[in-house]
Amino acid sequence: MYGDVNISGAKNAAVAIIPATLLVDGKCVLENVPNISDVKISCNILEKLGAKIEWLSEHSISVDTSHISSTTAPFDMTSKFRASYYLIGSLLSRCGEAEVGLPGGCNLGARPIDQHIKGFEALGADVNVSQGKISAKADRLVGTSIYMDTVSVGATINVMLASVLAEGTTTIDNAAKEPHVVDVANFLNTMGADIRGAGTDVIKITGVEKLKGDATYSIVPDQIEAGTFMLAAIASKGDITIHNCIPKHLDCLTAKILEIGGHVEEGDDSLRIWCDSRPTKTNVKTAPYPGFPTDLQPQIGVVLSVADGTSIINEGIWESRFQYTAELNKMGANITAQGKTAVFEGVDFLSGAPVYASDLRAGAALIIAGIIANGKTELYNLGHIDRGYENIEEKFRKLGANIKRVKE
Ligand code: EPU
Repeated sequence: MYGDVNISGAKNAAVAIIPATLLVDGKCVLENVPNISDVKISCNILEKLGAKIEWLSEHSISVDTSHISSTTAPFDMTSKFRASYYLIGSLLSRCGEAEVGLPGGCNLGARPIDQHIKGFEALGADVNVSQGKISAKADRLVGTSIYMDTVSVGATINVMLASVLAEGTTTIDNAAKEPHVVDVANFLNTMGADIRGAGTDVIKITGVEKLKGDATYSIVPDQIEAGTFMLAAIASKGDITIHNCIPKHLDCLTAKILEIGGHVEEGDDSLRIWCDSRPTKTNVKTAPYPGFPTDLQPQIGVVLSVADGTSIINEGIWESRFQYTAELNKMGANITAQGKTAVFEGVDFLSGAPVYASDLRAGAALIIAGIIANGKTELYNLGHIDRGYENIEEKFRKLGANIKRVKE
């Protein structure tokens, strides 16, 4: 694949910042909003709670949360949408209560929210989980110190949301450092919050009386989408320049790409990635940022499935993120996955086959696999991919891929 591709705003920042607008008593404008189905669901849920949302352009929305009429998020909508847990922190903070349906079963394995709950309780909330719902209530939230037992993006952001308007100072120790954690903190600070240390493992939030609206915030570029196209360049032995990205956020992937024989040229907000030979084997361990992102594990798995030699991937975050390997094996790969480890015996080429996307990143990986495979690949379950990638087939088509959507 050859050419240029523009990266959209980050899904995992957008699905937190949209509920975070509930903390603003007024109107704000979000720019660089990715036009993906998770964002649309997030906006629809907010509207059900009384917010007024207007799309100002393809990537910009205005959100008016002056009037919130409900603290109960519609069960049917939240259960389809994993990031709905951010509604708990936001509604608790703004209204003193929240009731949200627990997100349903997950294809990545168990997704506990014990650290979110521990944080809310430490701030003074009563939290109840029953009949598939989580409810939280607090007369007042008071700042405190919270040590996260595990590094969690969701729990870090949720505790930040819940403590922004609390009395006094909250300290989150062992906080997640992902770029989207920093982005949510930057958004809240733009609206008047007092959050320091986001991007390190200690975040201090000093409660303020209210967040003012009337501001505009631009969502950070999606480092996982950028990483997906970087790995597509390597898998296809192509030459792709990625625009609207933050190269620093991809340092870990850049290092891996150099290690397997690819080339990377860094610009201010762009990256050129190319590869003129067969990638070589390597080992990968996924870990919280700045480690290798789990959300790029299936995509690098495709590269390693055709690399020269035997590679091992250790999945350090999710229990069940190797379902895509069975699909790659249908395409001629030679991968043995057991528990959190998979061994990739590199093969010379992949062959087209009908395959199923078990989740969002598995879907992106299988698109790359289909593009580099000999013959035709049919990919099913596109709904997973549409949750997090904007116009993915058009972006790949512009890079020279022969790809079309046959059915929604
Ligand atoms: N964990 C707990 N208790 C908790 C929370 C998490 O034990 O209360 C564990 C999880 O089981 C997991 C680890 O901690 O083993 C990390 O989970 P984390 O909370 O960081 O994940 P998340 O916030 O639910 C976000 C992304 C995921 C991404 C992970 C890890 C969003 C909406 N989702 O999930 O993104 O894989 O962080 O980086 O931000 C994706 O985009 O495809 C995706 C799955």
